[in-house]
Amino acid sequence: MTLVQFLWRQYIRLKNPTCTIHAYALSKQVKFDKHVTIEPGTYFAAKKIGKYSFIGINSYVDKSTASIGNFCSIAMNAKISLQNHPHEWVTTHPFTYRKKYGFVKENINIEGVNTKQTVIGNDVWIGANVTVLAGVTIGNGAIIGANSLVSKDIEPYSIVSGTPARLVRYRFDEETIAKIQASQWWNWEDKKIQANLSKFSNTEAFLKSIS
Ligand SMILES: CC(C)(COP(=O)(O)OP(=O)(O)OC[C@H]1O[C@@H](n2cnc3c(N)ncnc32)[C@H](O)[C@@H]1OP(=O)(O)O)[C@@H](O)C(=O)NCCC(=O)NCCS
Repeated sequence: MTLVQFLWRQYIRLKNPTCTIHAYALSKQVKFDKHVTIEPGTYFAAKKIGKYSFIGINSYVDKSTASIGNFCSIAMNAKISLQNHPHEWVTTHPFTYRKKYGFVKENINIEGVNTKQTVIGNDVWIGANVTVLAGVTIGNGAIIGANSLVSKDIEPYSIVSGTPARLVRYRFDEETIAKIQASQWWNWEDKKIQANLSKFSNTEAFLKSIS
C-alpha cells in the first residue's frame, strides 16, 4: 500500500465511523453507507455500497461496480465486475487505451469492452470464490453458490451455481417473491427492523405482517 492509499483509507475510516474498513486499497469514488465491513486484503472500488453489507478477505471489486445494495453478504475471494480486453484488435493488452503504459495520454473508454457496469441488488448472498463478469445485474435476494462464475443477469430470489452459473431453484414462490420485493425491507429504518426481528426468520409471519 502506498502512503497516499494509506492516508486515503484513514480518511475514509474517519468519515465512516460505523464501518469496519480493512481494505488494502480503496478507490476515491466509493460511497459507504453505515455499518459496512470490508475485510483485509480486499481491493474495493465500487461506487456505492449499502448499509450492513460486507465483503470477505482477499476480494477484488472493480470500479465498474455501479452499486452493491443493502445487507449483502459477499464471501471471501470474490472477484466482482471483471472487465474484458478487446478481442479483435491486434493486441489484447491495454496499452492502447490505458495511459499508465505511456502510449496514450488519457484513459480511453471503449464501448462494449471496458464500459460495462455491474449492479448487485439488496440482500444478495455471494458464496466463497465467486467471479462476476462486468455488465451483470444480480437481483435482490439472489444466492450465488460457492465457486460460481456469473456471466449473465441473475433473477431476484434465485439460487444459482456453477460455471457458468445456472439456476438451481427459486427461494420462494412467485407471489412470495413479489411481496418481499414490494416490502423493500432493506430500506426500513433500523427501529422497524428491530421491532420485526423475529419475522426475518419466519417468512410466513413476515408476509402476514406486511399484508
Ligand atoms: C448454492 C448453495 C447455497 C445451495 O445450497 P442448498 O440449497 O443447500 O443446495 P443443495 O446442497 O441442496 O444442492 C443442490 C444441488 O446443487 C449442487 N451444488 C450446491 N452448491 C453448489 C455450488 N456452489 N456449485 C455447484 N453445484 C452446487 C449440489 O451438489 C446439488 O446437486 P445435485 O442436485 O446434483 O445433488 C450452497 O451449496 C453454496 O454454495 N453455499 C455457499 C457457501 C459459502 O460460500 N459460504 C461462505 C460464507 S458467507
